[in-house]
Parts: sequence; structure tokens; C-alpha cells
Amino acid sequence: MKSIPNYDCDFYSDAFIEMPHYHYTKMRQLGPVVYIPQLNNFAITKFKALKKALFDFESLCSGDGIAADEVGCKYVKGQIVSSDPPVHRVMRKAMLPPLMPKNINEISPIVKKESIKLINKLIKQKEFDAVSDLAQFLPLNIVRDLVGVPDFGKGNMLNWAGASFDVIGVQNQRGKRGVEEIIKLRKFITGKLNLKTVKQNSWIGRILQLIKDGLLEENLGNCLIRDYINPSLDTTISAISHLILLLSENYNEWIKLQKNSSLIKNTINEAIRLGSPIRSFSRKANKNVDIEGYHIPKNSRVMMLFASANRDEEIFKNSHKFDIERSFNEHLGFGYGIHSCVGKYLAQLEMSSLLEAMIPSIKKIETKKT
Ligand code: HEM
Repeated sequence: MKSIPNYDCDFYSDAFIEMPHYHYTKMRQLGPVVYIPQLNNFAITKFKALKKALFDFESLCSGDGIAADEVGCKYVKGQIVSSDPPVHRVMRKAMLPPLMPKNINEISPIVKKESIKLINKLIKQKEFDAVSDLAQFLPLNIVRDLVGVPDFGKGNMLNWAGASFDVIGVQNQRGKRGVEEIIKLRKFITGKLNLKTVKQNSWIGRILQLIKDGLLEENLGNCLIRDYINPSLDTTISAISHLILLLSENYNEWIKLQKNSSLIKNTINEAIRLGSPIRSFSRKANKNVDIEGYHIPKNSRVMMLFASANRDEEIFKNSHKFDIERSFNEHLGFGYGIHSCVGKYLAQLEMSSLLEAMIPSIKKIETKKT
């Protein structure tokens, strides 16, 4: 067995988050598995090893939580992402229908229409905030209503979405704030959401109806409601923001895209590969695991570094480069295996609709970092 190298870092500090790829590159240079002493966690850094690990849900399980520490795990327990089969299968079956391509296609005309209206408005303004004016628009104006949170709770949704990712880390200031918000969200779900208060024909309304009809256990249903509320905003807002930044920094790619709109899908993939809105979730080893000759002892917490694997130089040539014509782009930004993202068709629809609206009317994108 090979010995696992240490990588000393404060993974959830602002300093790390501000320049993550400096660290991920150094981690990958050490090998496919590193040990982070400060967290007492192992981390999988490279593409092939991560893909294999994500597929092996029996050895590397999610049911004990997917956060970096035990406190964080406590606040994600019960969610679909923190479940194992057979419960995971029940939850996924209940959650999937509105997010399947057929149903996403049905909302496509309205998403496209709203995207055109938004882009036309922003063009007139000339200068705008790429995150709050552009990236947040579809998640806040369309997705939020699809989820179905009533108007009196809508204003908190962005906060709760952020909190759900903050608790995935450790108990620093950000993690503690996340825990406070998650406690409020849990109270809101059980105390305020019912078939009379939520929006009709919404995703949450559907779950409440399944509970009422005796087709879904109440505790699973309440978790699924949170599974719609938490990941539906921040992930896509981060992905769209990254897409805009990359297009502004890579004028040649923007020109290529304008000349050939069949590159839209690849452009979105490339933005998600480079941006990796979810940088890491963890798993618990429920037996001794061998990853490419590295021994991970039973009960260890193992971090799945999506963001690092997506820039693995052995898989992606010039891996830091934004190349919308990249021939291999099977990134792990939407995960892989049984927990792969259920919201990816929605996220892709939002991103492609914005690009389709931008292509005919925008010559050049310039960003000023503030
Ligand atoms: C660009 C946007 C998005 C990215 C990059 C993203 C990324 C991911 C990743 C990496 C995973 C795998 C987690 C794991 O293996 O532990 C995941 C799972 C998941 N995503 Fe997304 N996501 C996005 C958008 C969405 C949206 C819009 C929704 C909601 C409607 C959503 C709902 C979920 C859920 C519920 C899971 C857990 C699935 C399961 O455990 O079976 N995601 N996502």
C-alpha cells in the first residue's frame, strides 16, 4: 500500500476559497488521495479516482452525512443527498418527476421568453451587476415559483440556499451562521408549509399531496421539500455568474459561440467544469477502501473534490483553459453515480436560454470586478 501524503490547509477559510485552484493543483501533484490533518479527512483529488469513488456508494456512503465534520453532517442528515439505498431510491423517485426533461421542456418557452426580456433590458442599461441583475434573475423569478414557497417565505429562500452549503463545511463563522438558518428553515417547513399555503401545482405542493394521499412518509416528504428549496438557487446562480465571467475573459470563445450556436451545450459544460459550483461533498467509508493503491481505513470521512477532479491535467488538456470546443468534456460537476444531480436539466435550460438571448444582441462582454 502507498502512503497517503498530507496536505496542510484550512480548506474552509476565506483565503482557500479565494484561490482554490492553487491548492487543488498542489493536491493533485501529491496524488489521487491526500490527507487533510486539520479536518482529519481524506480527499480524492483526481478524476478517475473520484469517478470510481462516486460510483461505489456501498463502500463510500452518504447516509452518515456529506459535510466535512460531524456537526455539519447532523444538519444534512435525512436529505436525499445524505441518504443511502433503499431510502435513497424512494426519495429520488418522489423527487424526480418535475425535473425530468419532459417536464423541463414544458417550461422552456417561458424561461426563454423571460431570458430575452431580461437581456434586452440589461443591454439598454449598458452596465449592470452580473450576479444580482443577471445570474439571479431566472432562479429568483421562475424557479422560486416552481418550487412553490409562499410569498411570505420567498424572501428567505436565497439565505436558506446559501446556508445549506455553509453547513457542509466546518463550524467556523460561516458554518455556524448556516446552522442557525437551517434550524429556521426546518421550523418554517414543518410549521408554515401546507397545501393551503404553498403555490398550487408547485413542486412542494406535489410532495405535500403525496404525503396526504399516504404515498410518502411525512418525515421523508419534509426532507424532500428542503431538497427542492436548498439546491435550486445558489448552484445555478454560481454557474451562470461563472459563465459570464469566463465569456468576458475569453473574447475569442464568445466570437466562436456567436458564429456557431451549436456550441452552446459545450460552453455550458465547460463553464460548469471550470466553475464547479459544488466544490466538495464528503462520504463515510463504511469498510476499508482501496483507492488506486491507497488504503483508507473504515469510518474515515472522505471528501469528493469535484472542483479539483474537473481540472485534472491527465484528463483535460490545458485543464485551466476555457475551451468551448473541447472534445472530451465529461466533467463531474453534476456528480456521478446514484447521487448525480437531479436538477441538471433545469440548470442547463436556464443557462442555454440566457446564452440564446445574448448571442444575437451582444458584441462583447466586459466585466469590472468590484
Ligand atoms: C449548475 C447547477 C448545479 C450543479 C453544478 C449541481 C451539482 C450537483 C452535484 C455535484 C451533485 C452530487 C452530490 C453528491 O454526489 O453528493 C448534485 C446532486 C443534487 N442536486 Fe444538483 N447541481 C445543480 C443544480 C441543481 C438544481 C437546480 C437542483 C434542484 C432542483 C439540484 C438538486 C440536486 C439534488 C436534490 C441532488 C441530490 C441527488 C441525490 O442525492 O440523489 N441541483 N448536484
